[in-house]
Amino acid sequence: MSDPRIAAVKSRIPVFPDFPKPGIQFYDIFSLFQQPSLCSDVVDLFYEHFISKYPSTKIDAVLGLDARGFLFAPPLAEKFKANFVPVRKSGKLPGVVASCSYSLEYGEAEIEIQEHALQKGQNVIIVDDLMATGGTMSTACLLAQNMNVNVIQCQCVIELTGLNGVKQLPEGTDMYSIVQFE
Ligand code: PRP
Ligand code: MG
Repeated sequence: MSDPRIAAVKSRIPVFPDFPKPGIQFYDIFSLFQQPSLCSDVVDLFYEHFISKYPSTKIDAVLGLDARGFLFAPPLAEKFKANFVPVRKSGKLPGVVASCSYSLEYGEAEIEIQEHALQKGQNVIIVDDLMATGGTMSTACLLAQNMNVNVIQCQCVIELTGLNGVKQLPEGTDMYSIVQFE
């Protein structure tokens, strides 16, 4: 039987057609925050899914993707008693950073993690609000793997299944989304 919290989350995510440009369907995660209990439901669903699938795996860090992944990664990290590690767009993090670039429709983008934030061999989860083409999440996976940490699972609130973003992820990557839209 499906979890009523999932239906509640889905019903609270409106779609704005043709934003920010024609042809793009924008699923607005911020609407969840009009009903604060749903935000903690999202974090609980991420946590419960993980521990039911990997009951004996200790998570060392939850990586949140700039910017909207930051809404969920810190409270999720707290539940795991793990560190929150931001994965930021380039030029925002001080100190020594590891970086990885990826293609956008026009040009390139780059994401970064502070090198001191992760240690070799750690187990991590990567969290974002939404997976569309999968470009952002797959690059975050590669960056984490380049830093020699184990990506145990990727988690998104929303997955746009019609774009088949999971196919972009490194082979064997485990991906969990709470709600799906075509
Ligand atoms: C959005 C969304 C995901 C990404 C998904 O972020 O929050 O991070 O796009 O797209 P993809 O699967 O095609 O890579 P965006 O960088 O647009 O904005 P944000 O900084 O508000 O999170
Ligand atoms: Mg984003």
